[in-house]
Amino acid sequence: MYHSKISGLGYFVPENIVTNDDLSKIMDTNDEWIQERTGIQERRHVLKGSGETTTSMGVKAAKIAIERSGLSKEEIDFIVFATISPDYYFPGPGVSLQKELGLRTIGALDVRNQCSGFVYALSIADQYIKTGMYKNILIVGSELQSIGLDMTTRGRGVSVIFGDGAGAAVLSRATDEVSQVLSTHLHSEGEHAKELSVLAPGMGGRWVTDILADNDPNDESYFPYMNGQFVFKNAVVRFSEVIHEGLEANNLQVSDIDMLIPHQANLRISQFIQKKFGLNDDQVYNNIQKFGNTTAASIPIALTQAWEEGKIKKGDTVVLAAFGSGFTWASAIIKW
Ligand code: UT7
Repeated sequence: MYHSKISGLGYFVPENIVTNDDLSKIMDTNDEWIQERTGIQERRHVLKGSGETTTSMGVKAAKIAIERSGLSKEEIDFIVFATISPDYYFPGPGVSLQKELGLRTIGALDVRNQCSGFVYALSIADQYIKTGMYKNILIVGSELQSIGLDMTTRGRGVSVIFGDGAGAAVLSRATDEVSQVLSTHLHSEGEHAKELSVLAPGMGGRWVTDILADNDPNDESYFPYMNGQFVFKNAVVRFSEVIHEGLEANNLQVSDIDMLIPHQANLRISQFIQKKFGLNDDQVYNNIQKFGNTTAASIPIALTQAWEEGKIKKGDTVVLAAFGSGFTWASAIIKW
């Protein structure tokens, strides 16, 4: 059996910065509330009319990751694209990325696992590489969320949190015994599917023709809904469980963690986990302060930044952990 390793990383965020004060001009919110509850100071939102899409941001991140991997695009064997904000309801953006990057007619798989999407994508890619089916797989997490948020006071509990951006990684067959993905662990609990969801376009019971005929301006089903406190309580439990699960599967201790990259859901969640695991500030990477919650893009953006800042070195034990809508949660333990 082969092993996989991350051979290239990249990210892209739109230039347009939206501060908490900017939001307070269009809805009843304020910098103090947002920072105290979430740690977020600002996020990036694509400018309306810029033409930027989930695919185009993914392409920009992917180009950097491929270049850093030292591979030519002809050497990429497969695409896994994670997003909750696809350009089209179908097909998913994997195929658009294949076209825009000018890749061969390789397979493109779309992953819909929300905030856990990137770790799910990594897990899938890892299995393909382990079996020897593929050698180099492009994994992308990209989100254009601002386009679908309720930017009024009605939607403030959700809309102040989310941001736009993309992150990408190339997963390649490992060439030495050190650097490799040690394990991935994936979970779901559909009982809580509606606690963090977008219900429209309502294939689960509502006919699109009826929705269109109603033309109801108060129809909130196209906007994200989140039962914030319930999600928060589940998140802290599942984050902890799935990190422990990964460590135990590899006979590792908490003290072996060199870098934890949690999905950037809320700085308070990251801080809770950090405290629970007794990790110091250098062992947990957070950038939600600047980018908000970018869902499937948050882990690859944070991982890329941590790596660019020299905070991850060869041989380090890096832990990725995610929790989100579904509910889904997941971890990956990587020997860098
Ligand atoms: O990434 C996927 C996973 N997501 C998560 O893990 C998110 C988990 N949940 C959270 O991060 C938090 O629950 C939130 C940040 C979403 C909300 O924080 P909270 O402390 O749970 O606030 P809350 O929803 O209980 O609302 C408290 C108050 C309410 O007012 P009343 O009823 O006490 O008068 C809200 O209406 O804060 C109000 N509120 C706001 N006020 C100012 C809600 N949103 C805002 C806002 N600005 N943006």
